[in-house]
Amino acid sequence: MLRIAMLGAGRVGQVHARSISEHPDAELVWVCDPIEAAATALASKYGAQWSLDPEDAFADPSIDAVVIGTPTNTHIEMLRRAVDADKRVLLEKPIDLDLAKIDAAWAEIQHRAPFVMLGFCRRFDPSFQEVKERVAKGEIGMVRALRITSRDPQPPLAAYLSVSGGMFKDMTIHDFDMARYQLGDIVEVQAMGSDNGLDDFREAKDHAQAIIVMRAASGALATIVNSRTCAYGYDQRLEVYGDLGSLEAGNWTPTTVRANTATETEAAGPILGFFLERYMPAFKAEFDEFVRAVTEEREPAVGFADGRAALVLAEAANESVATGRVVRVG
Ligand SMILES: NC(=O)c1ccc[n+]([C@@H]2O[C@H](COP(=O)([O-])OP(=O)(O)OC[C@H]3O[C@@H](n4cnc5c(N)ncnc54)[C@H](O)[C@@H]3O)[C@@H](O)[C@H]2O)c1
Repeated sequence: MLRIAMLGAGRVGQVHARSISEHPDAELVWVCDPIEAAATALASKYGAQWSLDPEDAFADPSIDAVVIGTPTNTHIEMLRRAVDADKRVLLEKPIDLDLAKIDAAWAEIQHRAPFVMLGFCRRFDPSFQEVKERVAKGEIGMVRALRITSRDPQPPLAAYLSVSGGMFKDMTIHDFDMARYQLGDIVEVQAMGSDNGLDDFREAKDHAQAIIVMRAASGALATIVNSRTCAYGYDQRLEVYGDLGSLEAGNWTPTTVRANTATETEAAGPILGFFLERYMPAFKAEFDEFVRAVTEEREPAVGFADGRAALVLAEAANESVATGRVVRVG
């Protein structure tokens, strides 16, 4: 039984706490968050202990692993402390917003051969996994293109935008990782963004929507279509296109019922709300991989290097927007 501490009891902390408590080989022992109401609410929901300070979990010798779901600007420090305390780590994306800081932290901790799994939950989405597996079996022949559509239902608050690190590092980071997961290494990035004339995005110098075009080392091309707003909900789709056909993973709806009436045909209900609903099975599968990799004492399916590689692509996209050029990476 793996004994786990959840660091951060916010949005993503609540998702992970549920995965931990529902896993047959894991136990949620601590919930740590400086906001007492958040810590106590989540801890009491799952019968865990709570603390305002993660040090209590680091100091507990019975804790095998920590899940870091604290704000991005605390990740590196939490990671250092966790590795010092000899805990296994499941770390939320992005590792940090600054590549130099990421490299310095890794140089400091790598001699301890730390176990760090990166929270790129979408790799564990059953449909995205099926697409990858069927491509690998040769079902659509040589892969030529990948199209990822990723739109959030509503924009973050202005206060969040100013500290998020920008759309590419905060949001598109998942899609950069998905492109690497489906296509392998990416070698060229070109990006355009727009604030859609919205004050919050203009003031934060951020994008409300963006389109990124990339080339993989294999020669395949990829597009990522992002938006921070979407009138019809959380739009999460992808298509891999090859010489012999294409494989598409579509949006999820709560039921498969389709309505045909005088005003609409093949009409489905609304798509699933946001990441919490849409990716709950992926979060659970991600945590299962974490438990299995720790137990089997092997590398996790997605690690620190993947987190770094996705950030490299985010930086390339920022550079492309700033210069209007195609940016080579790797
Ligand atoms: N994988 C995903 O799909 C996904 C989704 C959402 C967020 N995230 C990532 O998870 C992280 C947290 O995002 P969120 O949306 O849950 O934020 P949030 O603001 O909802 O929650 C963060 C929580 O961490 C707490 N906290 C702050 N400092 C802390 C500390 N030193 N120790 C312990 N707790 C501390 C805050 O009080 C807050 O309750 C971010 O890095 C974000 O990028 C990932």
